[in-house]
Amino acid sequence: MRPVILAIESSCDETSASVIRNGKVLNNIIASQAVHQKYGGVVPELASRAHQQNIVAVVDAALEGAGVTRTDLDAVAFTRGPGLMGALLVGVSFAKGLAMGLKIPLIEVNHMQAHVLAHFIDEPRPSFPFLCLTVSGGHTQIVLVKDHLDMEVIGQTQDDAVGEAFDKAAKILGLPYPGGPLIDKHAQQGNPRAYKFSETVMPGLDFSFSGIKTQFLYFLRDKKKENPAFVEENLADICASLQHHLVSMLLTRVEQACARTGIRQVAIAGGVSANQGLRQRLQALGGQHGWDVFIPAFQYCTDNAGMIAMAAHYKYQRGLFAPLDVTPLARMPL
Ligand code: KG4
Ligand code: ZN
Repeated sequence: MRPVILAIESSCDETSASVIRNGKVLNNIIASQAVHQKYGGVVPELASRAHQQNIVAVVDAALEGAGVTRTDLDAVAFTRGPGLMGALLVGVSFAKGLAMGLKIPLIEVNHMQAHVLAHFIDEPRPSFPFLCLTVSGGHTQIVLVKDHLDMEVIGQTQDDAVGEAFDKAAKILGLPYPGGPLIDKHAQQGNPRAYKFSETVMPGLDFSFSGIKTQFLYFLRDKKKENPAFVEENLADICASLQHHLVSMLLTRVEQACARTGIRQVAIAGGVSANQGLRQRLQALGGQHGWDVFIPAFQYCTDNAGMIAMAAHYKYQRGLFAPLDVTPLARMPL
């Protein structure tokens, strides 16, 4: 059954490859880069080098796991952007070399579009139109999804992404990078109403997450003046309250977006969609409003090539191929 497409993701700090056959994702191999942990964030130069080291093994594992050889491939897909330029270059160059060598077409994929299309890997799949809250380390968007390849951003952050807010707050708490999952973990034992934070309200459906960093820093500074062991003694409550605040900011906008558009199908995507608080509260809110809610499996929340493969499948069907002189884009609109 055809087509068989190999997809490569290298936009940030995961080197990933996936094989899709006739629209079915056969596997999703991910090599994470531990090298960034001690720096408290992704170091672009180190990310590029790690991609270079990992890419052959990751691609081979994806092909082998799917039981296909290079000569079975009908196309090679890669993430064109947005992302770190040096990291993207590794995936783009590898895909070009393979496409050239095998004389098969090349497919370029927008990483943010692919996060949304992760919802088409498994059942249940949303129908069009639906709204997708795409939340990652670099983006916070409400996307109106009209078709597989036709999407419009109707709200977005004007400064930091929500994943960045999670990671920066975690760093202030002394937790290692990436701190989002750790805040989530500690939050599960805490009281979400223990502490209150305030919100910068942006016009329309936009977000602002840059203020929370400073607010959080000053909140902890003042509390530590009263009690130097404040963080250690109250970590779970601090994480639960901060998470509650960030998730409320997201869900308020989702509710407004649904009211404005009249759409009753809501999906979440991107790294922060792995957050338990967001997943649970979206389910509950969906229940209240009678929405159909779509939450991706954990392996398709954070960066992965399965979603790139899914996007590539739709592009292949429409004959949307990239020229061999295509270049990566650090910024790439939907
Ligand atoms: O989509 P992704 O893997 O990479 C980007 O495209 O940015 O998202 C990574 C982001 C990081 O900020 C990470 O802390 C956050 O997603 N993240 C989480 C959770 N898992 C990952 N944030 C909160 N709770 C989680 N469980
Ligand atoms: Zn991503």
